Amino acid sequence: MSDKSFIDNLISQMTLEEKAAQMVQIPVSAVGMEESLKWAEMGAGSFLNVFGDDIKELQKAAMEKSRLKIPAIFGTDAVRGHAENKDATIFPSSLTMAATWDRDLLRQVAAATAAEVATDGLHWDFAPLFCLARDPRWGRTGETFGEDKYLAGELGAAQVRGYQGDDLSADDTVLACAKHYIAYGEATGARDSYDTEVTFRKIRDEFLSPFRKAIEAGCGSFMTAYGSIDGTPLTANKKALRDILRDELGFDGIVVTDWDTVNYLVVRQKVCKDINEASRAAASAGNDIIMCTSAFYDAVIEEVREGRLEEKILDDAVRHILSVKLKMKLWDKPIKKGIPGSIGCKAHLELAKKAAENSVIMLKNDGVLPISFNKKIRKIAVIGPNANDIRAQYGDWTYFTHPLPGVKKEPARPYVTLLEGVRAQTEGSGIKVEYAYGCAVNRPDYHRETKDIGAFIDMCYEINEHGTDNYKQMPFINEAASLARESDLVILALGDNYTQAGEYTDRADLDLSGMQEALVRIISGFKVPIITVLIATKPLAIPDVVKRSDAVVCAFNGGMFGGEAVAEVLFGKKNPEGRLPISFPVMTGQVPVYYNQLPGWHEGRYVDCPKEPLFVFGEGLSYTWYEYSGLKFDAGTKTVTVTVANTGDMKGTETVQIYINDKVSSIMTADKNLAGFEKVELEPGESREVSIRLDDEAFEVTLPDETRVIEHGEFDIMAGHSSRDEDLIKITVVL
Ligand code: BGC
Repeated sequence: MSDKSFIDNLISQMTLEEKAAQMVQIPVSAVGMEESLKWAEMGAGSFLNVFGDDIKELQKAAMEKSRLKIPAIFGTDAVRGHAENKDATIFPSSLTMAATWDRDLLRQVAAATAAEVATDGLHWDFAPLFCLARDPRWGRTGETFGEDKYLAGELGAAQVRGYQGDDLSADDTVLACAKHYIAYGEATGARDSYDTEVTFRKIRDEFLSPFRKAIEAGCGSFMTAYGSIDGTPLTANKKALRDILRDELGFDGIVVTDWDTVNYLVVRQKVCKDINEASRAAASAGNDIIMCTSAFYDAVIEEVREGRLEEKILDDAVRHILSVKLKMKLWDKPIKKGIPGSIGCKAHLELAKKAAENSVIMLKNDGVLPISFNKKIRKIAVIGPNANDIRAQYGDWTYFTHPLPGVKKEPARPYVTLLEGVRAQTEGSGIKVEYAYGCAVNRPDYHRETKDIGAFIDMCYEINEHGTDNYKQMPFINEAASLARESDLVILALGDNYTQAGEYTDRADLDLSGMQEALVRIISGFKVPIITVLIATKPLAIPDVVKRSDAVVCAFNGGMFGGEAVAEVLFGKKNPEGRLPISFPVMTGQVPVYYNQLPGWHEGRYVDCPKEPLFVFGEGLSYTWYEYSGLKFDAGTKTVTVTVANTGDMKGTETVQIYINDKVSSIMTADKNLAGFEKVELEPGESREVSIRLDDEAFEVTLPDETRVIEHGEFDIMAGHSSRDEDLIKITVVL
């Protein structure tokens, strides 16, 4: 029997109740096993937040006790490794790994994650995120691949390929999920789940691009976003879900809602008067699986029975669900086998280490890096709240920073903090390494509620100006200051932590929280060289820290081996190759600072803030130098060719970045948009010609009528080391 007739036949046997049940997704950890088992027997189509033996029990109930014995599909959030499992490999966060600009590495990370997820019996991973983080106040910035549509699309598509492999039914692959569709990161004021005031022209121009790549990569599922577009919630957004996603882009996989969003149409977004109306709206708009809102079941049945909703809508949804289940061969392989022994295995840990190493971004270096083992350095002070705090190093979405009920909340080895990494690098060298905590990242009462810490900082500034004695009042800062004063070098680990990021956790203020600014000011008074390491979920506004530091390294959330990776860069064991996937503001009020904003002509600068961001997209230093020359463009194949040379004396890996500007277009375009990139490893003195073929999309504009066209004429093609003008060479071509 062909796949189509198998599915048609099955649908023809299904009652209305069975169709409705197939569309329901039950959150096992929230409702418990007893309730979940009842749902399995009723033919619920899927479950989330459940592991191991519980999956087996639920699947057994679905396949033995439900009338049609349709297997269920089990999903989880493994956004940076299968990190809800305490034994799994925890990779750097997506934003961190985006700094590698390495498609294949991200594919490998996703493949390793899939193997671990599948080994726990799960079929479906709610990853990757294709949202753009163009306003870093957003709490979920760290879950994204940064601010640029091209980079996010390329890396996300690579991860889709890694999760799904070539065969969704293989033991070690899982169904990927492109989320959150669409423009979720663009919510006004970066308030998680709020309305996004953009037009559909803008959506097509900017936010659709990465999702298009998800479809090209074969992504089998999409998740709708919590928010709304210009007042229409995505859960009920027919234009986004049906007209664009299905009809235009031809997506034929599963569309799943986000957590309980059908209910939110009633109680939060208030566009539906009751759950019946909300269920009808969600199904009509094009959602196939309804996450968590189990009241959908009765409601949708009633809507069909009473003639307000066509049963065919349910048939279509069920067809999408069953087709994916068939591709996964769930009838023959109801539980994913995975690869026994792969959870946290050596090969995956090594991959996590490599991902962390290649993600480290050096942003400033006045010559103090790499740290040399000369006689001048006898004692290194490692100071700061994030130097030895594995929770801060991990960030969000791990078993102990975002735990499911009943899961152990204590971090388990292996992991290496920055302090441990520095100790390992200096072992046997005679250099003494001492540690001081310094201050808290945030006081408990600071988080989300008060800002009275400002007074505390003022006090610290005053103390610094009035000499060193008074700070004895503050035992941690005092201890750190004494240590710094008697050391030859300070490594300062600052940033934020997981309590300041994630869902429901946007920030109005991107300054360093707690007394961290004060700590820097006091320590920088001693004229001991300072290397600042930013361990943070996102870009923070740290101009003063940068000014007071001799070197700045951004590590974001490097996962298990983040600390080790940074230490290797600091001591020159690894030439840093990370490039920023997101720009840093000078101050919060300067946001947005993403590099490809549309131009204006009244300076684009606030009178009380510099014009340029603190650090820009694509930026990242190395211990060697790269020079670009010979930029050419072949208009026939749309191929850019450029020669890049390593002119320093250390081997290094450069990320060749290509930007495009459409010189005159009928609708405004950015002065530059990333259009291609490739990594090249170069020995000292070596040069290489790099050819990068650009997509048609790079040359397209979206017109006010929402069509996309290439407007022929002149284009600037730029190639170089970062998105900064001074780092790029340019030619003008005619297309
Ligand atoms: C998040 C999704 C996630 C889902 C299931 C939601 O709150 O927005 O990203 O996949 O929960 O855990």
